[in-house]
Amino acid sequence: MNMRLFGQVPEGDVYEVTLENRRGLKARILSLGATLRSLEVPDAEGNLRDVILGYDTAEEYWNGQSYLGAAVGRFANRIGGACFFLNGREYRLDANEGRNQLHGGTYGFSRRLWMPIVKSGQEAVFRLTSPDGDMGFPGQLDAEVCYRLEGNALRISYRASASAATPLSMTNHSYFNLAGHGSGTVGTHKLTVRADCYTPTDTEMIPTGEIRPVAGTLLDLRDPVEAETLWNAPELSRTRGLDHNFVLSGGEGPAAVLTAPDGRLSLEVSTDCPAVQVYTAGFLEEQRGKDGAVYGPHHAVCLETQAFPDAVNHPEFPSAILEPGRLWESETVYRFEGAGLAKGRRAQMIYL
Ligand code: GLA
Repeated sequence: MNMRLFGQVPEGDVYEVTLENRRGLKARILSLGATLRSLEVPDAEGNLRDVILGYDTAEEYWNGQSYLGAAVGRFANRIGGACFFLNGREYRLDANEGRNQLHGGTYGFSRRLWMPIVKSGQEAVFRLTSPDGDMGFPGQLDAEVCYRLEGNALRISYRASASAATPLSMTNHSYFNLAGHGSGTVGTHKLTVRADCYTPTDTEMIPTGEIRPVAGTLLDLRDPVEAETLWNAPELSRTRGLDHNFVLSGGEGPAAVLTAPDGRLSLEVSTDCPAVQVYTAGFLEEQRGKDGAVYGPHHAVCLETQAFPDAVNHPEFPSAILEPGRLWESETVYRFEGAGLAKGRRAQMIYL
């Protein structure tokens, strides 16, 4: 049985599901927040490298403020003034970052107990019912997050339906460090983001409504950039590096690519979402992580595929409203490329 009791939080028991495939990928997912707790990938020598930051205990996840690996919802990122108008009605949301809402509110999806359903050794689904009025959002929402290992990749698929029109944007908030979690900053990781534009924000991190080209700015990541150049730039001091929403350009190829300092492991992120929040974790506080690791600022990169932040208050942004009776589906694929995985591929040809 690849599910075990992991711990307890005030809401109840937390379970952990382990998925594993023949290429050597291994993922551990918690029912609390449908959280990706670890993602092990074979490195050049075939040793497993855990590339996700996480904690050892359920209590640390419950008390954590950084959304490590969590499924985020109902609405990823921020809703300005924790308020919006929809179909002639005003909705007031739970405000958990000053007067704004961040990542669905105090008890957003990242702090809920999801129902785990193990489909196979490579696939598990987590279900959650978010009641009408949850954190202020309209309508009951039935949500599902599916984790599936496919060759060199982890696919996360989301489905949801609602009893009333509601803003919806779900993401996964994993912190990636391709040198292995606990190996310090990601300063010499290289980052590429296929985005011609981004959405500038005000001092409270709420979009101004502008969609601005990246050309000629530090946010032009269309060619690979070393991560530390971003947090060393005075222009990005307010966000301590990147904490920006990039408008994905679409087309062939991944939305974002992250490459380890040794160049021997890369992560390619592909998605059907219109945008990605790229966060170089400048505000990640010094804290204890899994297996005695110590985490701190810039120890990871988050690639949060999402709708445009605060879309519900910006008619000029693509709509992020789920209408009742409709099925909302979205998916993001995290594909790893590297020497160790090439060995894995050969092994698979022999054993299949
Ligand atoms: C997102 C936000 C950041 C920060 C992290 C969580 O990336 O954009 O500002 O809140 O989540 O710590």
